[in-house]
Amino acid sequence: MSSLLVAAIDFGTTFSGYAFSFLHDYKRDPLKISANTWNAGIGQLVTQKTSTCVLFDAAGKFHSFGFEAEEKYSNLALDAQHNDWYYFRRFKMMLYDKKGLSRESLIVDDKGKRMEAMKVFSAAIGYLRNHLLSTCAKQLTGIDDSNITWVLTVPAIWNDPSKQFMREAAEKVGICGERLVIALEPEAASLYCMYLPVQKDSENSTFGVFKSGSKYMVVDAGGGTIDITVHEVQDNGTLKELHKANGGNWGGTKVDSSFKSLLASIVGNDVIEAFNTDHKYDYLELLRDFEIKKRTIHPKLSEKVTFKVPINLLETFRKANPGSSIETVVTSNARFKNQLTWTGDKIRMEAKLTITLFDESCKKIVDHLEQLFKLPNVKDVSSILLVGGFAESSMLQEAVREAFRNKKVIVPQDAGLAVLKGAVLYGHQPKTISARVCKYTYGVRITRKFDENIHLQSKKVLRDGVERCKDIFSVHVSVGKLIKVGEPQFKKCYSVIDHDQKRLSFDIYTSNERTPTYTTDVGCTCLGKLTIDMPDTTKGKDRGAFVHMTFSGTEITVTAVDKDDPTKTVSTNVDFLG
Ligand SMILES: Nc1ncnc2c1ncn2[C@@H]1O[C@H](COP(=O)(O)OP(=O)(O)OP(=O)(O)O)[C@@H](O)[C@H]1O
Ligand SMILES: *[C@@H]1O[C@H](CO)[C@@H](O)[C@H](O)[C@H]1NC(C)=O
Ligand SMILES: *[C@@H]1O[C@H](CO)[C@@H](O)[C@H](O)[C@H]1NC(C)=O
Ligand SMILES: [Mg+2]
Repeated sequence: MSSLLVAAIDFGTTFSGYAFSFLHDYKRDPLKISANTWNAGIGQLVTQKTSTCVLFDAAGKFHSFGFEAEEKYSNLALDAQHNDWYYFRRFKMMLYDKKGLSRESLIVDDKGKRMEAMKVFSAAIGYLRNHLLSTCAKQLTGIDDSNITWVLTVPAIWNDPSKQFMREAAEKVGICGERLVIALEPEAASLYCMYLPVQKDSENSTFGVFKSGSKYMVVDAGGGTIDITVHEVQDNGTLKELHKANGGNWGGTKVDSSFKSLLASIVGNDVIEAFNTDHKYDYLELLRDFEIKKRTIHPKLSEKVTFKVPINLLETFRKANPGSSIETVVTSNARFKNQLTWTGDKIRMEAKLTITLFDESCKKIVDHLEQLFKLPNVKDVSSILLVGGFAESSMLQEAVREAFRNKKVIVPQDAGLAVLKGAVLYGHQPKTISARVCKYTYGVRITRKFDENIHLQSKKVLRDGVERCKDIFSVHVSVGKLIKVGEPQFKKCYSVIDHDQKRLSFDIYTSNERTPTYTTDVGCTCLGKLTIDMPDTTKGKDRGAFVHMTFSGTEITVTAVDKDDPTKTVSTNVDFLG
């Protein structure tokens, strides 16, 4: 699949954007990647990603995305006309570890109104797709969908249903499924770093990190998730994963939450809620001001930091607490003694207190990395590549450098765009990732002939007069196994049981255990269904298919051929959202 254009969409928790590059440019200079520049009017933020917000009007029709949606909604609120509109902000996290995700899953907006999550995610992807296409058309006319490879990024720590959800959301807005590739965020970042010539913070070139045999850890620190992968460079320059993708939800928005908690500990949660409800515009300004201030906080900070807080927050506090003064509240709190003053629309915080806003997320990240470096196959990894928007924070950089003095910590230039630009590179060259480590044990639920010596009595069932053991976890591939990209990990022939059976159907299970026995064991989850179509019943019971399952890609793929005719493909379907 060689495409004239690779178009990537990075749909982030806090920020989203797109980037693209033409094949002819890529061949000359892989880093010649175009991205869009977005402007936030309120707060003067200029970035190459826009905020992840979607706005629908009262009729449920898509209105806008990004900074534009934030501002429109805030302005509607000023005129008290926003109540019937649907506004969704930072909603990607909904897909993290969500149980029972389906095509009908609902998502709650700013006002608690519900909408189908699929509609919201599609609208966001659709907006970015259309924006990208119109930008491309200015550079080169006559591109149509058959010339484009689309890449959509997802966290590597997501499970299969969430990835399928994103894929279907993209297909709904006209992105051709066959031309769509799902890229894993830390992998994309890893590819981007491979191409970078020189580090920002040292005279050493990346050459040392990316020479054959070297091992490094990529930490993608985004707004929502910290997503980690460990790579080893192979002799032919491809990358092999050394440890399964891992991480957690301790991204940069944890710092925003700490700030919000700090405010709430002064004025009270109910006042923050009321302020958000009654003064949307001011609330947005507060958040944007914090976003800008957050970027200036560094470990050596010694000056006080001034945060602008809209006067309406104080007004809301006064209304809720008549007779009480903010000064008294602040001075009576031991945590703020000599650390914080609040006058009018300004909070001034001592550097020491300001820095604590980063404590939780930095500590969680460092603790997790420490655990990882204890593992035998990660121990000797000598470099850490810090990427993602949050990696631009010198608070996080310093915390990681401090904790891992014997490792080389590299923060590439444009750390915040590494995932987005790497996704474009991945679209041109997906084979650069040559092996991955299986994240779960995968298998299907089957029955076996009952054996008194090994099987549990409670699992005994009678089928056609024969005693069978139900709920057996038939393992296809085990967690932690290194699997080569492109090669099927599982091949098996399945046959029909009844002469008029039109399809074979299996429940797909995952487990964190290497060799689970029953699908009902602790830690086993039913992910979805695999179906194999057998519509032609003329051969009666003598029918079956060779099934190949591949777990080494970014998504599970299944192919099947007729058991008697390997040239005849059999249609299969894997559904994680049923
Ligand atoms: N210079 C900076 N200093 C501190 N924090 C920053 C800086 N630049 C960006 N951030 C923070 O990084 C986060 C955004 O990072 P990024 O754009 O990589 O996340 P995302 O892609 O939206 O999220 P995810 O990848 O988790 O879905 C935000 O929390 C933002 O406040
Ligand atoms: C460059 O790399 C060498 C060898 O890895 C190391 O000794 C040196 O300190 C590095 N220089 C900088 C500025 O990081
Ligand atoms: C590179 O080498 C690895 C390991 O030897 C192999 O699996 C992979 O197919 C090779 N890839 C290319 C593009 O040559
Ligand atoms: Mg991201």
